[in-house]
Amino acid sequence: MKLNIAVLAGDGIGPEIVAQALRVTETVAKKFGHELQTKEALVGAAAIDATGNPYPDETHELCMQSDAVLFGAIGHPRFDNDPSAKVRPEQGLLAMRKKLGLYANIRPLIIFPSLLEKSPLKTDRVEGADFVTIRELTGGLYFGQPQGRSENGDTAYDTCIYTRMEVERILKLAFEFAMKRKKRLTVVDKANVLATSRLWRQISKEMEPQYPEVVVDYMFVDNAAMQIIQWPKRFDVMVTENLFGDILTDEASVIAGSLGMLPSASIGIHTSVFEPIHGSYPQAAGKNIANPCATILSAAMMFEYAYKLDKEAALIRKAVEASLEAGAVTEDLTDDKSKALSTSAVGDWIVEYILKA
Ligand SMILES: NC(=O)c1ccc[n+]([C@@H]2O[C@H](COP(=O)([O-])OP(=O)(O)OC[C@H]3O[C@@H](n4cnc5c(N)ncnc54)[C@H](O)[C@@H]3O)[C@@H](O)[C@H]2O)c1
Repeated sequence: MKLNIAVLAGDGIGPEIVAQALRVTETVAKKFGHELQTKEALVGAAAIDATGNPYPDETHELCMQSDAVLFGAIGHPRFDNDPSAKVRPEQGLLAMRKKLGLYANIRPLIIFPSLLEKSPLKTDRVEGADFVTIRELTGGLYFGQPQGRSENGDTAYDTCIYTRMEVERILKLAFEFAMKRKKRLTVVDKANVLATSRLWRQISKEMEPQYPEVVVDYMFVDNAAMQIIQWPKRFDVMVTENLFGDILTDEASVIAGSLGMLPSASIGIHTSVFEPIHGSYPQAAGKNIANPCATILSAAMMFEYAYKLDKEAALIRKAVEASLEAGAVTEDLTDDKSKALSTSAVGDWIVEYILKA
């Protein structure tokens, strides 16, 4: 099969982690006889520096022409620490999501047995936890207008808006996911306070009869934040709006041992994007110490979702699992830093495993 992939490494650790995910992708493609074509483009702070635009038109064109996008991360302290900056790297990420119509971000929580003791939660709570969060990605507070400051700068406002169409399409995806899994769906909202949440709840209840096999429960986001830590095994598929999903999935990453382990797929109307859930981790940029596994596992999701190449995806996951079992891990996953491997050495290990498999 021809695999035509756009590579958007972005900022901070982005280039380092994407380099390893690309090596893994190349190795798997070669092993299974696929013809891989990759093209790189700018996004985030790197794109602002080069063009003034965090998501340049050429980058968008490349994404539109590709079958899939492998994405690193964006963000730079230069912008984080300057609230007055008019153009920000995050605008590039949001523009990409909006222009590609990426309305759903699928975030599986994968617990690798060899990382069980890395979790701050007791093993019996975490062992066997296996759920997917479906985060709405192009609506809510991150996109609602108006957004801004009053003239004197002393008042700021964001607007949370959801339309029936936006809610229906993400809930449909979530119900379908639940049907393919254990048929349990948790709709997370704040319907006791927010009008948008009440719309979500109303639409979900209207849709329930279409999926009679799915057991649906409704949970306020504050309760969900607690339940994820207390009883992570109770969840199967969780669906929620943009902001809640952003926060809850970072929280859930702790269960898995490190934010550097969690992949995601952003899907929607045009080309899908495969990206780790973490950010550009600027403190580690250029040091070759960041965990590349979330990005490598995102490449596995790319094989699965963009190409339906399940065996290729499974081999990548097996290789990551084997690296963890062998203790071939970066410093976030070891208490003894002297035993930690570099980002590229973890990539070497995983590539080597795939070649021998
Ligand atoms: N999708 C994205 O591109 C995205 C997402 C979140 C944050 N950001 C941006 O990233 C920048 C940094 O934000 P932040 O510090 O809040 O979040 P972050 O995810 O970059 O880092 C938070 C912490 O998680 C850990 N971590 C993250 N990735 C890791 C990895 N690969 N290996 C090991 N440990 C890892 C580190 O301890 C780090 O201090 C900001 O500019 C922010 O806007 C971008």
